[in-house]
Amino acid sequence: MKYSPATDPGGTSMATDSMGRGWADVLAEIPLFAGLSKRQLNKIAKLAKTRRYARFTPIVRAGDRGDSFYVILDGTALVKLPGKRGVRLGAGDWFGEMALIDAAPRAATVEAQTDVFAMLLGRNAFLKTVQDEPKIAIALLQTMAERLRASERSASH
Ligand code: CMP
Repeated sequence: MKYSPATDPGGTSMATDSMGRGWADVLAEIPLFAGLSKRQLNKIAKLAKTRRYARFTPIVRAGDRGDSFYVILDGTALVKLPGKRGVRLGAGDWFGEMALIDAAPRAATVEAQTDVFAMLLGRNAFLKTVQDEPKIAIALLQTMAERLRASERSASH
């Protein structure tokens, strides 16, 4: 398991679990949360949940209304955009921010390629975190810019 606390009970339950205690040190290792204080990390861990997805399960579906933001803690997922090559995301990568930021439907389907263990922030928790933590806002913008550039490069080939 790439990102999980030493005390994580593991298991294969597909239920959504609270993150809470023991997770701040794990979140500190994830690039999106780099540079945040222990207090800030604890605040995020309290708001977050974890969930497992079986291989080949859609985690979000294109066209759906978005209610959560996701960070992959373990496994790989594929962003499927109509008419384009899929984009692979792995541990530490995130997705699902777009529909929360502009309230438009999900832009792509994101499917688990392996079993995936993910961290979720609900819409309000995500928006509050972004408002409170400019470092997170900048990291999200950087990734959105990189993805836009990559997508435009692939569109011209
Ligand atoms: P959202 O539209 O909420 O749900 C689907 C997610 O896929 C989207 O947010 C982004 O996080 C991600 N996504 C959309 N387009 C791309 C892309 N071109 N490259 C990588 N990820 C993408």
